[in-house]
Amino acid sequence: MTPHVVPDPQAGAAVKAADRAHVFHSWSAQGLIDPLAVAGAEGSYFWDYDGNRYLDFTSGLVYTNIGYQHPKVVAAIQEQAAKLATFAPAFAVDVRSEAARLIAERTPGDLDKIFFTNGGAEAVENAVRMARLHTGRHKVLSAFRSYHGATSTAINLTGDPRRWASDTGSAGVVRFWAPFLYRSPFYAETEQQECERALAHLEDTIAFEGPGTIAAIILETIPGTAGIMTPPPGYLTGVREICDKYGIVFVLDEVMAGFGRTGKWFAAEHFDVVPDLMTFAKGVNSGYVPLGGVAISERIAATFETRPYPGGLTYSGHPLACAAAVATIQVMEDEKVVENAARIGETVLGPGLRELAERHPSVGEVRGTGVFWALDLVRNKETREPLVPYNAAGEANAPMAAFGAAAKKNGLWPFVNMNRTHAVPACNVTDDEVKEGLAALDAALTVADEHTV
Ligand SMILES: Cc1ncc(COP(=O)(O)O)c(C=O)c1O
Repeated sequence: MTPHVVPDPQAGAAVKAADRAHVFHSWSAQGLIDPLAVAGAEGSYFWDYDGNRYLDFTSGLVYTNIGYQHPKVVAAIQEQAAKLATFAPAFAVDVRSEAARLIAERTPGDLDKIFFTNGGAEAVENAVRMARLHTGRHKVLSAFRSYHGATSTAINLTGDPRRWASDTGSAGVVRFWAPFLYRSPFYAETEQQECERALAHLEDTIAFEGPGTIAAIILETIPGTAGIMTPPPGYLTGVREICDKYGIVFVLDEVMAGFGRTGKWFAAEHFDVVPDLMTFAKGVNSGYVPLGGVAISERIAATFETRPYPGGLTYSGHPLACAAAVATIQVMEDEKVVENAARIGETVLGPGLRELAERHPSVGEVRGTGVFWALDLVRNKETREPLVPYNAAGEANAPMAAFGAAAKKNGLWPFVNMNRTHAVPACNVTDDEVKEGLAALDAALTVADEHTV
């Protein structure tokens, strides 16, 4: 149910004018952007001041896993604000204890202690700090085609062009290739080859970097922004074995893949793997109040049992954020949101996207699970040449820009990154909403098809 959208262009113009005058936006040339003024949102939809309503196939930045304005979570935040709006992190606070308990109960294996942060990048910063102190080593291995956040260590770990401008090269980060059969860095033709060669490449990298210098390997369990590339069977357990062999801390970044997105509470469950540290954020409370964290295994927690952990944040475990997490997890249990994500992926979204791929020459590959899907758009299905070059901008990116504009014209807000569109709706999206999204994608892909050869 979406409330009636009452257009108010004048109010929209005022919001836009103040934004343009004073808000400095992320990742943007400030003079070249034209942000949509948002008037409201509910469930899977949001709307502007001109009376346009959009089905959000991005979940914000892949974080509103229970959709917008869930009444139970909004009420929990309001109640917490009235009861105890804030309290410093050194104290034991009921709602913080409860959030940590609920998260620890759901994280795999012995990841039973929770260090709270305000978001994903800070979680990565702290996971790396823990790994370095635990091992007494400095270097961290991360994958090309990854995203781990925009703070200093996190951006240095990132394997995409967003790193380039901030890459100091001083953070002790070494990058390697993780498996991705469709664009295999290893000339592999099967999942098994890709897996074996990727593991051999990782072990070679470790040998040449010096195993005794490497504190951690960090991987997104299923890389998100970089293209939703599900690793082949055996890869993550292989990485786990390599980490154990060389005493390296294994960090899984579940900031995007966690909390139901893949149809399980955590993506690690698909692969039967337990990392030493796991980062989370986004879906933990659907981003209603900023929250992230690191789930810590017994071994690493033991390092800081008598030795102080040298890190902290003023708002670590903020009561409003924790109240939102407690309510979100409860809603996800009561409304079977994780089960819905799995079912939608298997029966509606996955099959629907595959059907689009059959009919549209611009769709090279469909991959994903749950409500975590990517369409790899190509100029040619045979050659797999991307629809736009890597990191294209301006005129070179025109085909993707045209695709995005067509989706919006059809009432769908699409996730567009390089030559891909991701179908990442809320985990509690309905069958009908997904069907509506697929119809809009169908129309927008017709525009992308015009750029195929
Ligand atoms: C896998 C992953 N790690 C870390 C981050 C950074 O999270 P934040 O933007 O909350 O700092 C993101 C954000 O998209 C992410 O997808």
